[in-house]
Amino acid sequence: MNTLHLTDTTEDIRTAADILSNGGLVAMPTETVYGLAADALNGSAVKRIFEAKGRPMDNPLIVHVARFEDISRLGLVSEIPEKALLLAERFWPGPLTIIMPKGKVIPDEVSAGLDTVAVRIPSHPVAQRLLRVSGLALAAPSANTSGKPSPTTAEHVADDMDGRIEAILDGGACGVGVESTVLTLADGTPRILRPGIITREQIEEVIGETLVDKAVLSQLESGEKVASPGMKYKHYAPEAEVILIRGDDDKYINYVNRAYRRGMSAAALCYDEDAASILAPCVTMGAMSDEESQAQELFDALRAVDELGVKTVYAHCPSTEGVGMALYNRMIRAAAFRVIDLPTKRIIGLTGQTGAGKSEVSRLLEKKGLPVVSADKAAREAVEDESVLRGLCEAFGDILLPDGSLDRRRTAEIAFSTPENTALLNSITHPVIKRLMLEEAESARGDTVVFDASQLFESGEDLICDLIIGVVADRETRIRRLLERDGLERSEIERRMSAQYSEEFFGTCCDDIIVNDGTAAELAAAVDELYERSVSR
Ligand code: TXA
Ligand code: MG
Repeated sequence: MNTLHLTDTTEDIRTAADILSNGGLVAMPTETVYGLAADALNGSAVKRIFEAKGRPMDNPLIVHVARFEDISRLGLVSEIPEKALLLAERFWPGPLTIIMPKGKVIPDEVSAGLDTVAVRIPSHPVAQRLLRVSGLALAAPSANTSGKPSPTTAEHVADDMDGRIEAILDGGACGVGVESTVLTLADGTPRILRPGIITREQIEEVIGETLVDKAVLSQLESGEKVASPGMKYKHYAPEAEVILIRGDDDKYINYVNRAYRRGMSAAALCYDEDAASILAPCVTMGAMSDEESQAQELFDALRAVDELGVKTVYAHCPSTEGVGMALYNRMIRAAAFRVIDLPTKRIIGLTGQTGAGKSEVSRLLEKKGLPVVSADKAAREAVEDESVLRGLCEAFGDILLPDGSLDRRRTAEIAFSTPENTALLNSITHPVIKRLMLEEAESARGDTVVFDASQLFESGEDLICDLIIGVVADRETRIRRLLERDGLERSEIERRMSAQYSEEFFGTCCDDIIVNDGTAAELAAAVDELYERSVSR
């Protein structure tokens, strides 16, 4: 099919109206996002919307009309609740959708078998003209391929819909940028099914108590009934894996920069103000204190993310207050509900090569009054965890002692026998070790905590550290220390060392290096100096 590209001239609007009257599909601008419109009372026209979008048939559509009178004139609803009148007066035309008991004329395709219908009066002048010239009620979901971010420009629509629909009406970039607030008045207390630029607080000013559906902010259990079918589908998702990072600005920037410096295929989805401090490629989504500009830019940013060609995108997590709720609702879905909470305390990572003397540095820092959280201790606790034990048995076979606890020697033998087994061990234990360390950090006294972890980088804990100290020593010195301390064969020591990160790696990824080639007194002096310089600030 050859898709017509129309503008907002009288002639073009007439053409679009004719297409709609004949059962065709037209993408139209609204103040929120572009909609993919069809005659709402023509079931077979509406069915084509689902085909063009690849949308599941059980997800109902919003019906758009030009004026409030059209709702009863066309018989769209069986009853107009009192609260709908109040809301209409205050917010229509505008970005609010109200769900009401449906009228008989509504085809099953529109309501997806529900006994309600969603209605909205858009304020965009082009949508208004198209509705008036055609004289129709228009069913219109967002004009994106199902699962992708909603389109906020005619170009976005063309990317998804060219060749699949009769026409695209270009009305420039949408002003609001996120879809309308969806509110149901069809059962009991009014309830927001999808947050938008019109906030819960604004709605409550008009009609009093208004609930927020559980699915708005959290993931439903599988099998849990969902009030708004649209909420259960994967949505807004770029190709890249998006992860929301919740924490203050400095910590967020630090997290992304560490991932980037470490060579991870990572990018940032951040506020305008963050961009200058971020080393990784980034896409911005508006000014930090201006949620309206964030709403306007969000979907464009989510589409732009894929042009960076990275594997992971770290997005700065918005608040859930006011308009933030609408942003969070979209972003948490784009992230498939993956969120990382950054610790509130200052975390100092301490790591180093085997035999370099990390443990001694750890003791010296502890003597200076800093709480030390030990990864070794957390690792010992982690293997007492039921799920970790089960995971290890599944991975490595029978590795339990008769009393049901872990046979540590046998586990180590198997797990360190090949790099694949080591990676498998880490993937089972590291998440739990990390959780235990974070819990201990939060309950420690003071606001600075040392993470003593030889596998700081392997576990990914480096990304949450505000400062990373690496302890290194010359290779022969380390081998000599290990020969004396652990009584291992030289060949075994060399094998273990070759599995560890190189000096260069520590050089690029640590913020501060302690070289421990000399005497105990020299080490203590180096720690004193480092403490004054970077730790005690
Ligand atoms: O801003 C908007 O609302 C845009 C523009 C084009 O108007 N439209 C839009 O439509 O976002 P759509 O289909 O992408 O999202 C409509 C949402 C879906 O989550 C759908 O499940 C829900 O509203 N919905 C529609 N009718 C419903 C009903 N009767 N009961 C519950 N949820 C309903
Ligand atoms: Mg949609």
